[in-house]
Formats: sequence, structure tokens, C-alpha cells
Amino acid sequence: MTGGGDCPGLNAVIRAVVRKSEYVFGHELLGFINGWDGVISGEHMVVDVERMRGTLPRGGTVLGSSRTTPEFYSGGMDKAVETLERLDVSALIVIGGDGTLKAAHALAEHGVGVVGVPKTIDNDIPGTEYTFGFNTAVQVAADAIDRLHSTAESHDRVMVVEVMGRDTGHVAVHAGLASGATLILTPEHPFDIDDICSRLMRRHEMNRYASIIVVAEGAYPAEGTSFELPDHGTDMWGHRKLGGIAHAVAAAIEDRTGFEARVTVLGHVQRGGKPTAFDRVLSTRLGIAAIDAVQEGAFGQMVALYNDEVVLVPLADVVGRIRACPPNLYHGVASWFFAR
Ligand code: F6P
Repeated sequence: MTGGGDCPGLNAVIRAVVRKSEYVFGHELLGFINGWDGVISGEHMVVDVERMRGTLPRGGTVLGSSRTTPEFYSGGMDKAVETLERLDVSALIVIGGDGTLKAAHALAEHGVGVVGVPKTIDNDIPGTEYTFGFNTAVQVAADAIDRLHSTAESHDRVMVVEVMGRDTGHVAVHAGLASGATLILTPEHPFDIDDICSRLMRRHEMNRYASIIVVAEGAYPAEGTSFELPDHGTDMWGHRKLGGIAHAVAAAIEDRTGFEARVTVLGHVQRGGKPTAFDRVLSTRLGIAAIDAVQEGAFGQMVALYNDEVVLVPLADVVGRIRACPPNLYHGVASWFFAR
């Protein structure tokens, strides 16, 4: 099953699982439809080598996805266990991000043979160096920012570009570094709008009139600074609703400096379309490792990338935590290129 927000590389994982499973182990594989909804209702399709043919470069997931978890249903966990028993499922490969893997861990505690595969463009799952989908999202964002440079220069404008990443700045830092951003704002480093404006003004004094500010959707102001964060409330899972901070940052810059600012919110374009070659390879490696783990009965584990090897990490060590963007990448590398 694939759960949570989709990302490029999901089909590549399923394809790899199916390929080794069918050719080497002779398992019969079912794919649950729309994440945990399918595991609970039992709605599924047969996934085999034929079905997955041609899907390696395709974004999205042939199985569909949803953000629902078993906790969303009354008695959802018991219903999931019943469905798996009814369909004679001996192991469940759960491909998902933090919420989906948390539910996978809970299901493993109910005695179900579960193997997790970390996915998300946010790259925020602990225990693995990269999640698949991240590399593609960074490439999409970097390509877009490359394009903004020339129009920013033609009009002497400040371009504020908002990227995804929820509560971490992995996408912002990597995309900003790759595309030569003037400043990068991330949740790991709360910003001071006055400091941002001073830096832009100093830049203008040096005749640099075009600037690109990459802002992670989850960035927020440092305590005691004068910036009003837009409040969109929380979603049905209690998560802060994100999106739109770039508008507030651009408005504050215009107000305080008089410099013309424009906003680009990249949004779901970062999650759509074909995976990069890196993500296809990573997804394929993780898929093979996941079916190997099933064959070995290594349940309650997540496949992960560590020192360029695919290893197993207990789901218990992963769930309920997020992996922040490493400070050394921000302070030790990215910040050297920021406007001073
Ligand atoms: O977790 C992946 C992600 O794309 C985040 O970066 C973003 O905040 C969120 O999903 C968007 O979710 P949705 O697709 O439900 O709007």
C-alpha cells in the first residue's frame, strides 16, 4: 500500500517489489487501493509484473493514496487486522511518510508482519539519509528558480519562492543552494524580517537589485521579531495548515524597503511527474530490500539508506520523530552564499 501525499518513485518501488517477489520468491501480491482506506475496506487490485510494466518513469502511484490512517476510523486498527486475515495476507509492505509509518508500526504491534518503505519529498524521515521523491522535488524547484533569475534581473525585483517540506527545510536548502538563492528561510532557523530587509538594502547599495529568496512553507519568524505569520488553522489531523508564507514575506519586504517583490508558490508541481534517475534507483533498491525483508520475516522494520547501503531500521526508532535539515549544510555551506 502507498499512503500519505504521493511522490515520484512510488511506482518504481512497487515495480521492484513485484519483480523480485514474482520471479524469485513466487509470492502472490495484492495492492490495497488508496492507502489505509483500502487496507480497512479490503479494496485491492492484483499487482504483478505485467501490471507494473512501463511504470518506472511514471509519477504518482498506480494504487492511489490517501492521508487517512486506521485511527481515523472507529476500531480502525482491528478492522485492518480483520481485513488482512480475511484476504490471507501474510505480510504488508507500507510505503509512506511519517503518518503512514506510524500506523504501520501500530499495526506491527498488533502482530501483523509489516515492512516500511520511507517516502516523501520532504526528506524528513529519521533513520534514512534520503527518502525517494526528495531528489526529484529539489530538481523541479531548482529548475524553476533558475528560470526566475533572469526575470528578476530584467525587472530589478525580489522574487520570493515558496517550496514544500512541511516542518523541515531540506527542499528549501538543497533547491536554494543548487540555484544560487540570495537567502533561504527554513523552519530550522526562524527568520528576522528586519535582518532580511537590511541584507537586501545592502545588496542594493552594491548595485545588486535582483534577489531570490527561497522560503520553506513551514518557515516562521524568530521570537520577538515583527512579522505576522499567516494563520490558516489546522487540518483534520491537527497539523498546522501551511502554504502562503511567501506572500506575507514579499509584502513585508515591499512595505519595509520599497523594493518590488513577486511571489512564486511551487506547490504540488514539486510532487508530480517523472522521478529523477536518482529517485528511480533509490526506489528500486528500497523495493528489492523490502521484499527481501518480507522473505526473511524481518518485520516491524523500515528499509533505509545508510552510507549508501540499504539497511533495516526498527520502525519503533523512526516513528513520532522528524529529521531536521542538518545544521552544517545551512551554516557551513548555504549561508556563505547569502546576501551579507
Ligand atoms: O509531505 C509531503 C507534502 O507535499 C508536504 O511538503 C506538504 O506540506 C504536504 O504534503 C501537502 O499536502 P497535500 O497534498 O495534502 O496538500
